[in-house]
Amino acid sequence: MPDVVWRLRLRLDLHHYQKEPMSVYPRVASFKSFQAFTDYLKEIGVDLPCDESVASGDESPLGRSMDVDGVNVGNRFCILPMEGWDGTNDGAPTDLTVRRWRNFGISGAKWIWGGEAVAVRHDGRANPNQLLMTEANLSAIEGLRNELMSAHEERFGRTDDLYVGLQLTHSGRWAKPNEKATAEPRTAQRNPALDPRVKVTDDSAIISDDDLRRLIDDFIAAAVRAEKAGYRFVDVKHCHGYLGHELLSGVDRKGDFGGSFENRTRFVRDIVAGINAAAPSLKIGVRLSIYDFMPHHPGEDRVGEPVPGADPRLVWGADPSGMGIDLDEPSKFLSLLESIGVKMVCTTAGSPYSTPHIQRPAYFPPSDGYLPPEDPLVGVARQLRATAELRRSHPGMTFVGSGYTYLQDWLPNVAQAVVRAGWVDSIGLGRMVLSYPELPADVIAGVKQQRKKVCRTFSECTTAPRNGMISGCFPLDPFYKAMPERKLVQALT
Ligand SMILES: Cc1cc2nc3c(=O)[nH]c(=O)nc-3n(C[C@H](O)[C@H](O)[C@H](O)COP(=O)(O)O)c2cc1C
Ligand code: SF4
Repeated sequence: MPDVVWRLRLRLDLHHYQKEPMSVYPRVASFKSFQAFTDYLKEIGVDLPCDESVASGDESPLGRSMDVDGVNVGNRFCILPMEGWDGTNDGAPTDLTVRRWRNFGISGAKWIWGGEAVAVRHDGRANPNQLLMTEANLSAIEGLRNELMSAHEERFGRTDDLYVGLQLTHSGRWAKPNEKATAEPRTAQRNPALDPRVKVTDDSAIISDDDLRRLIDDFIAAAVRAEKAGYRFVDVKHCHGYLGHELLSGVDRKGDFGGSFENRTRFVRDIVAGINAAAPSLKIGVRLSIYDFMPHHPGEDRVGEPVPGADPRLVWGADPSGMGIDLDEPSKFLSLLESIGVKMVCTTAGSPYSTPHIQRPAYFPPSDGYLPPEDPLVGVARQLRATAELRRSHPGMTFVGSGYTYLQDWLPNVAQAVVRAGWVDSIGLGRMVLSYPELPADVIAGVKQQRKKVCRTFSECTTAPRNGMISGCFPLDPFYKAMPERKLVQALT
């Protein structure tokens, strides 16, 4: 759809969104002292370790290097994958993509978990501007890595302890490869709570076993290209409701890739075996939604509630109510990964489409979301504790955690405490590095946090692409703040 039509649609929608009520929870910025913040955590029953002061330097808990399956990684910060909806129609990076990756490079984090989701073939793109790992794009995607490396080298003088991988994906149910507004879903199975959102009315959107076999080959080919492009590992994405993740919950799917645990994990097993054969020195990681809840939608007063009629059996990592965590299968899945040589995992939860409050806790919902049904700090603690539990039961694996950004001013304090307590090996940062790229470097150097750059979870980086625009931190990053899109996005959140 042409941009001008999108903008017109946005304007027509403004009236509706401006009337929405606000979240009722206290803002994190309102806690002016360590005591006030930790008292509030106690008051709402959130058990989260938090250190009063944060140490700096290379030997501090967050500055210390670690060994990740034989690779030296220089500190305990990791940049989580984040796409910007800003590639070319052919799936090559643009100047905006390069800027984001250079910012990842200057962050000071020594682990880059995938950069952003890169589709392994065209029909798996989440939007027509998602990067695509074709032969034709190989050198441009190599260039992205090189830009990140040189930005890091210029700022920190070395890259031998910087570990950079590429996230490989097929967007499955959420694919929109050709038009920003046209869903072209390839699903693992029918799901009554999710099908209407992507206009699925019969079984024709279910991806066939034969096509899954071809897709496995596409993942392997993309991994080989990633290695040629200089990436030291690939992430075989299994999170956020995209195809790899949806297959894990495919209990109703017939055939070789559905039903039993063995069948539901065939996809990842075959991809890993194929990559190991074709690119033996390339390391493999998996980003995994370790639990999910039933799909949510806005209820009364726009507060999120489960979609009526949602089927808890189709929710990966949930208990029989579909609203609580059951880590039995996710834990079994991690044991399986470890047994096939996958030693690193990046934990996340839920889906940004159907359960954004558990995936990326936020004070302000994106335009297609809902007001948080719980204090977002509850959602943060849930992710951190579930990761800790899995790390305890899988001591041979290295864990990167997610969901820290909502902690805002207290992110470094909680990050240090959870690393010290052995809850996680590396602190994954998403939205915070869009608004405040140098946060890891500032923490390790002992520089006072720059409060005006701290992400306040306005969700504009999600609202913009949901309405056909590029993503970026429109409220806080001066580069995006100056763009004409800013006013449109602002009015929608
Ligand atoms: C703009 C944006 C783009 C994202 N793109 C991806 C992606 O390409 N792949 C992925 O696994 N997660 C993606 N995520 C999810 C983040 O990696 C992360 O899990 C989430 O933002 C929660 O972490 P945070 O609290 O630090 O933001 C994206 C998030 C945002 C805000
Ligand atoms: S737009 Fe900026 S402030 Fe808002 S959630 Fe995204 S990164 Fe944070």
